[in-house]
Amino acid sequence: MPRIYVLRWGHRPKRDKRLTTHAALTARALGASGFILADIKDPKIEQTIKKVVQQWGGSFHFQMGIPWKTVVKEWKAKNGIVVHLTAYGENIQTSNVLQRIKTTGKNVLVIIGSKKVPREFFSPKISDFNVAIGNQPHSECSSLAVFLDRYFEGKELTKKFENAKIRIIPQKHGKKTTKS
Ligand SMILES: C[S@@+](CC[C@H](N)C(=O)[O-])C[C@H]1O[C@@H](n2cnc3c(N)ncnc32)[C@H](O)[C@@H]1O
Repeated sequence: MPRIYVLRWGHRPKRDKRLTTHAALTARALGASGFILADIKDPKIEQTIKKVVQQWGGSFHFQMGIPWKTVVKEWKAKNGIVVHLTAYGENIQTSNVLQRIKTTGKNVLVIIGSKKVPREFFSPKISDFNVAIGNQPHSECSSLAVFLDRYFEGKELTKKFENAKIRIIPQKHGKKTTKS
């Protein structure tokens, strides 16, 4: 199964801490293998994500401070494809874009933005696919969640996270966990 990494572009430490953290948690919980906070370092976010991985298990890579162009260049050099999530792209529901992505059989770097992204993100030099989760503007977190869920066809929601110190035992009512 190809692996998915998420590249978060345009993080603004003063206002995006919570949203970028949520995007990384979404990536981890919904089956991505790693998250790259491009261009900038935000140690608080790294700390939060590492703590979650320690407690809740699985292997999830977090990197930060690498220029986005370097990430894309190295990803393509390793034969991966780039998917840019944007409201302006091919609609995931009305086009066959997801099928075309999957048919490549290649690892996927998913780019999510924050403020208005550089124009070059839309070009085939950077993005092999521009994918819209509907053609209305919403959020990097919601678009990432829907993309991952469609890509993994819901199977990511049953994934067992290895070496977890804490696990949730699903309940109709109330909260139950096991700790190890
Ligand atoms: C709040 S939006 C930024 C929109 C920005 N004002 C612009 O014009 O590009 C932040 C990010 O959410 C993602 N996003 C928002 N709506 C989306 C949609 N309908 N489909 C796919 N991605 C979307 C994109 O990755 C976008 O860069």
